[in-house]
Amino acid sequence: MLGRDPLTEKLKGFGTSIFAEMSALAVETGAINLGQGFPDTDGPSEVLEAAVDAIRAGVNQYPPGAGTPLLREAVAAHQRRFYGLDHDPETEVLITTGATEALAGALLGMLDAGDEVIVFEPMFDSYAACVALAGARVVPVLLRPEADGRYRFDPDELRAAVSERTKLVVLNTPHNPTGKVFDAEEMAIVASVALEHDLIVVTDEVYEHLVFLGATHVPMATLPGMGERTLTISSGGKTFSTTGWKIGWACGPAPLVAATRAAKQFLTYVSGAPFQPAIAVGLGLDDAFFAGLALDLSAKRDRLVVGLRAAGFTVYDPEATYFTTVDIRPVEPGGDGIAFCRSLAQRGGVVAVPNQVFYERPEHGRHLVRFACCKGDDVLDEAVRRLAGLSR
Ligand SMILES: Cc1ncc(COP(=O)(O)O)c(C=O)c1O
Repeated sequence: MLGRDPLTEKLKGFGTSIFAEMSALAVETGAINLGQGFPDTDGPSEVLEAAVDAIRAGVNQYPPGAGTPLLREAVAAHQRRFYGLDHDPETEVLITTGATEALAGALLGMLDAGDEVIVFEPMFDSYAACVALAGARVVPVLLRPEADGRYRFDPDELRAAVSERTKLVVLNTPHNPTGKVFDAEEMAIVASVALEHDLIVVTDEVYEHLVFLGATHVPMATLPGMGERTLTISSGGKTFSTTGWKIGWACGPAPLVAATRAAKQFLTYVSGAPFQPAIAVGLGLDDAFFAGLALDLSAKRDRLVVGLRAAGFTVYDPEATYFTTVDIRPVEPGGDGIAFCRSLAQRGGVVAVPNQVFYERPEHGRHLVRFACCKGDDVLDEAVRRLAGLSR
């Protein structure tokens, strides 16, 4: 028998992802899964057909290390079309295995042991794990839900989080799990801190096209002086409802892309050959597709938000993304999100995710729970009907 613990010290404390536990619970209990953020319908048929065509045409071997040129050009054209940003597809765009690998590549490729990374919490779970694998340290800055339902950070907390060891800020906008879109003023504050302390910003924009009326997504790279220190990460998973394809990208100044690629080449080297030209087709779809995507999702968001409010939760209205977070305390006086989610599957026939798993300091998220709205209308209506029974 092996006499030692095989798990690296760096990953102790990360455990198994709550998403796996909650999805297993949904299967076990037959509950409706509003936990994990994946849509239950397929994306545009042009994109799906392009992948099938590529497989039939023999696009089945290793693509080039930086990604298929067609997709690199499509990513550069997308950044120009939507944000007026110019990138050289040769040196400033890298195709990755989802945004997840772009994030891992960036963090492993840029961080040294002892470096500090500022991250707004709650945060997508892979950030802290990758920072830990790099031997670096997360310094969290809190996004706090306020009385008007919007999550905000305290600029002084952000400024105080910077030390001599800080190398990088990870920003996620539009934001999972809060559904927040950082507004122009907030972006300017983050940019000013990065400029003042010569920090790199790695920005995760996978929900860039899932923004509802009233909010505007401003990429960090468009702010004055930020283009030269920002690595922008996104992927086709959310925009084209192809989360299982895992086609992502990173774009930005050549040194940041090269550092990301230096690590990425030893993670997967390359992946998804036939899916790359298909995502290129998606990125070239007309404006009506992108506008329609957000509009469809906002109707689903409304369905879910109204239902959650009617069920008695305090709801923080999302401005973007698949997700809505609620304070469970009006419904569950103990306010323990993990216990609530574990029992909700049995009691309410719905699965959600406890937000405390997204925090470095879990006490801030103990009473918060996340529901996803990227499901069929009939599924959402049934989930809402079940939740209405909770407070009765
Ligand atoms: C904020 C955020 N970043 C990255 C990802 C992962 O993206 P991908 O599936 O392209 O790896 C997700 C997926 O849920 C996410 O919510």
